[in-house]
Amino acid sequence: MTHAELQATAQAPASLPSDKELVMRVLPMPADSNANGDIFGGWIMAQVDLAGSVLPVRIAKGRVTTVAVNQFVFKQPVSIGDLLSFYATVERVGNTSITVRVEVYAERNPADVQVVKVTEANLTYVAIDREGKPRQIPR
Ligand SMILES: CC(C)(COP(=O)(O)OP(=O)(O)OC[C@H]1O[C@@H](n2cnc3c(N)ncnc32)[C@H](O)[C@@H]1OP(=O)(O)O)[C@@H](O)C(=O)NCCC(=O)NCCS
Repeated sequence: MTHAELQATAQAPASLPSDKELVMRVLPMPADSNANGDIFGGWIMAQVDLAGSVLPVRIAKGRVTTVAVNQFVFKQPVSIGDLLSFYATVERVGNTSITVRVEVYAERNPADVQVVKVTEANLTYVAIDREGKPRQIPR
């Protein structure tokens, strides 16, 4: 097999979105699970917060902080071994704030891969200066 052919065998499933920016991928570990054996919702929230900040940091060209989690929906449980992909889209750029939609997809069962949307969220970040005060988003 050529290098290109080998690469093609490792391509992400076509059922993952191609119209949104992939901002993060992570594999949850047993330490991230709850008493039911599923992944703890608080761990997913922390990952979404990190993933959601990627585009705001780029747009704000510097430090941002989370001011609000406007919506958060756990649509399906996440299991150990699921590969999570976080996709982000910018919904609004204000004077000092940026609102982002984050969608999380789980890739499971590598032998016969299945892609499931597990979480959807909407968060607002504020660009801040060195003193932690809001600053204008550069245009
Ligand atoms: C974020 C923070 C700097 C904002 O300071 P502030 O003086 O309240 O700022 P403002 O009231 O001027 O609001 C700043 C922007 O946030 C937006 N905002 C404020 N509260 C909001 C809310 N509940 N939902 C959505 N947007 C909100 C405002 O609309 C404004 O956006 P715009 O400039 O684009 O119009 C301040 O609240 C803070 O430090 N919060 C703690 C952040 C933090 O520690 N996050 C990590 C989790 S613990």
